[in-house]
Amino acid sequence: MSGAKERLQLQEKFEIMPETLGGQFRKDFPPYLDGLVRSEPHHYVTTPEFAKNAEDIYNLAPRPDDIYVSTFPKCGTTWVQELVWMVVNQCDFEKSKKEQLSIRSPFLEKANSPLVDKIMELICYWNLMDWLRPFIRKAISFVLGDCLRDLEQIDQMAGPRVIKSHLPLYLLNPSVLNTSKVVYVARNPKDVIVSYYHYHRLLEFHHYTGNLEAFADYFMTDRVYSAPFFPHLLDAWNKRHHPNLHFVFYEDLKKDLRGEIQKIAKFLGKTLTEDQLVKLTEHLRFDNFAKNETVNCEIGKEIGLMNNSGNFIRKGKTGDWKNHFSPELNERIDKWMQTNLEGTDLRFITELEQQD
Ligand code: A3P
Repeated sequence: MSGAKERLQLQEKFEIMPETLGGQFRKDFPPYLDGLVRSEPHHYVTTPEFAKNAEDIYNLAPRPDDIYVSTFPKCGTTWVQELVWMVVNQCDFEKSKKEQLSIRSPFLEKANSPLVDKIMELICYWNLMDWLRPFIRKAISFVLGDCLRDLEQIDQMAGPRVIKSHLPLYLLNPSVLNTSKVVYVARNPKDVIVSYYHYHRLLEFHHYTGNLEAFADYFMTDRVYSAPFFPHLLDAWNKRHHPNLHFVFYEDLKKDLRGEIQKIAKFLGKTLTEDQLVKLTEHLRFDNFAKNETVNCEIGKEIGLMNNSGNFIRKGKTGDWKNHFSPELNERIDKWMQTNLEGTDLRFITELEQQD
């Protein structure tokens, strides 16, 4: 992947989490047939499929014109991914209307993952007839197309590449930050928990069957995909003064989308005309975004990856957690946040400011 260069060895080692192979966990996450794995020394939680490919991904050579959109899941990745793609592509609304975002901007850790095989595994799990499977496989490949591209294809993709990743920075190629640009998006963990809970119910890959309270516990005890939350965030927070890293809060995007677009454009060395800025701000507003078929993943419902219980672009609010948490759960989350933020200067926007 890195041409003639020597292959880098990933120091992170993944081990199966035995508690994810049975008991209540298996009941709450029925599709996790092989459980989840956790890495040492950083305790990153992921799927066994990803673990197999982690070192290949680590070896993907970064380029000076790459932009990584890096986030913990549910922090506004898709929103900022479209924003960044637009800024670096002269606000090409025509192309953005025609082509799925997942094709224009690849999802790094989904590359090389046997996605189709996983879908097929689920189809077997739901007992679909054998003779149907080849047709379904064809249909999935047809609909998802390039979105299933492997690392080789990402490596050869024409630049500038806008690469989406939920990986913590230490799982990306170590020269990413000194070579490419990184836009890191952070969000208040309370809203992330609510958003991630709904997402785990929506996606057939996760098919979470438990309640929000139990999910919040899985989240705080680092037993969900992409956990742990705080080290992911704090690693980027501590690097926020690096000239190649732009750190943005979801809550600030909500408060002043136009202003944050301008900051990101400046960071990327781009200037937008007033007309482009007005149109892009409109394009990215929640109501328009939720209806936009190249970003809202509604296609996932047609091919059985998502059920009909909700939407991928769901509510888009700050402070939605207030409609979900009991006082007791909120108190526990507050304590968890306090413990994890101790000794750091990272603060989330106060509750009062969070009212949407
Ligand atoms: P909610 O579930 O709270 O609504 P990601 O892309 O990282 O998966 O993040 C998804 C979250 O971002 C969802 O949060 C989604 O609704 C929100 N989101 C997506 N587009 C948005 C937009 N244009 N404005 C505000 N929030 C948006």
